[in-house]
Amino acid sequence: MRILLLGPPGSGKGTQAAMLSEKFGIPHISAGDLLREEVAKKSATGRNVEAMMNAGKLIPSEIVTEMVRQRLSKNDCSRGFILDGFPRNTEQREMLGVKFDVAVSLELEDTLAIARLSGRRQCLDCGKIYSGDAAECECGGKLYQRKDDKPAAMRERLKIFHRDTRPLIDFYRKEGTLKTVDASKGVDIVFAAICRSIQ
Ligand code: AP5
Repeated sequence: MRILLLGPPGSGKGTQAAMLSEKFGIPHISAGDLLREEVAKKSATGRNVEAMMNAGKLIPSEIVTEMVRQRLSKNDCSRGFILDGFPRNTEQREMLGVKFDVAVSLELEDTLAIARLSGRRQCLDCGKIYSGDAAECECGGKLYQRKDDKPAAMRERLKIFHRDTRPLIDFYRKEGTLKTVDASKGVDIVFAAICRSIQ
């Protein structure tokens, strides 16, 4: 099963992809996580992309496509995968050339997206996503706030979503693979709606 999750920043792609991965036993591949790993390692790619990510800009498609392609070539993707945050525009869709069984669009208004991102914390060790006042991850890891969850970067990411990713959603609608889900509901309600739309 090849599942694509689309939606604005803060719509819950990462949260839901982790739950889907556990339910269906297929890997969750997040373009943002792959890039953040490079930044944490301070690799040449990581040093190259860090400032762009912090400012909420898109990373050049050649770099991200190559990373995603390499990840998809690993054995654990042979039964399927959940792609989160890639492709993000028409150019990337064409470069990757993968056909999805279903593309799920998580629909959320910008004001709610900004409220969620402002409260998001993530574990430095395992990557688990939290909202609210949690002080520490259940694995014992420290929680941190992403640098691109600051107001100017959030606005930039939302602008890019509406400009570049909306046309992609229209593409999957015309193709007949698109399912839309109201992402403003609680996590479990959104999860149940995604599972229904996939089955
Ligand atoms: P990426 O990490 O993919 O960021 P994003 O797409 O902006 O999405 P987010 O991770 O911010 O949000 P999400 O939808 O996953 O929401 P989450 O589950 O965390 O990309 C980061 C950067 O990497 C990009 O800006 C770009 O620089 C680069 N990049 C990535 N892909 C690229 C590409 N293809 N091309 C070029 N550059 C690329 O939830 C958010 C918060 O809400 C959390 O606190 C969570 O607990 C909470 N929450 C989730 N669901 C609910 C709910 N139902 N109710 C209440 N709270 C909820």
